Amino acid sequence: MADIIGNKAAKNFSENVPFANSGDFHVKGSSNYDWGMKDRLSRIFNPESGKTVMLAFDHGYFMGPTSGLERLDILIPKLANYADCLMGTRGAIRSSVPPTYNKAIALRASSGSSILQDDLSRESMVVDIDDAIRMNASALAIQTFIGADGQKETIEELNKAVNLGFKYSIPTMGVVAVGKEMERTTQFFLLATRMLAEFGVQIVKTYYCDDFEKVAAACPVPLVVAGGKKIHEKDALTLAYNSIQGGAAGVDMGRNIFQSEYPVEMIQAVGKVVHEGFTDKEGFEFFLDLIN
Ligand code: R5P
Repeated sequence: MADIIGNKAAKNFSENVPFANSGDFHVKGSSNYDWGMKDRLSRIFNPESGKTVMLAFDHGYFMGPTSGLERLDILIPKLANYADCLMGTRGAIRSSVPPTYNKAIALRASSGSSILQDDLSRESMVVDIDDAIRMNASALAIQTFIGADGQKETIEELNKAVNLGFKYSIPTMGVVAVGKEMERTTQFFLLATRMLAEFGVQIVKTYYCDDFEKVAAACPVPLVVAGGKKIHEKDALTLAYNSIQGGAAGVDMGRNIFQSEYPVEMIQAVGKVVHEGFTDKEGFEFFLDLIN
C-alpha cells in the first residue's frame, strides 16, 4: 500500500476536458461493458441526453412513512411516467407500481438500520440477486459508509453486489452515505465517489458540494446527485442545474419532488433542467406556468 504520509494532494482534475474513454457509448466509464450491462444503463440514462431523472422513494426502508410518501400506491404512479428510473425497495415497487409502467428500476438492495438506532452506518446486501433479476432491475443500489463505523462491512457488501452484478450484467449504483456526524467537504466526496468507482460500480449516487466539477472529473463513472431535505422548488431546481453544469449525469431526487405541494409539476421541471438544457430560472418559470 502506498505510504500516505507525505502524499501529495490531488489538484489537476482537468475539469474542462471531456472523459476520454467514451467510445460510442453515452454512459461515462461503461464503453467496455457487454450488451446486457449497456442495455440496462441505457434504460437509466436516456441515450439522447445522456442524463437521468431518478425518482428516489426508498426512504421508508429505514424511516417508515415519511411526509409525502404516506401512500406509495397513490403518489408514485402519478410521478413514474416523468422519471427515467425509479429508485425504491422491492416491497414498495412490487406492491405499488404497476409493471406496465416499464420503468428502469434502481433497486434498493441494502438495508440493516432504522431511525430507531443511533448508528445507521451498518447495512448489508439483503436482496438476493435472483430476486433482482426477477424484478428486471436495471441497477442494484447499495449504501456505503465511507469514513463511518460501518465502512468495512458496507464496502464488502458493495463489492458483493458488484461481483454479482458483473455475473449477470446488472449495474451497481454505489450510494455515498452522509451520516449526521460525517463531513460534507469536497475532500470527502472526492474520496468517497472515487473509492466506489474503483470498487467497480457503474453509477455513484452522491451529494452536491463545493468544487463539484472536480469531484465529477475525478470519478470515472456517472454521478447522480441526491436532492436532500426539502427546500424551495426554485432552490431545488438550482441544485439540479448546478449539478448538471458541474458534470453530474442526473439527479436522484426524492423529498424535493414528493414533498412539494406540486410533485407532478416539480418532477417535470426537474426533467427540463436535466434533459433539455433549461437553466434553473427557466425550469422554475416552467414550474410556475404549470401550477398556475
Ligand atoms: C436516502 O436514504 C436515499 O438514498 C434517498 O434515495 C436519497 O437520499 C435521495 O432522496 P432525497 O432526494 O430525498 O435526499
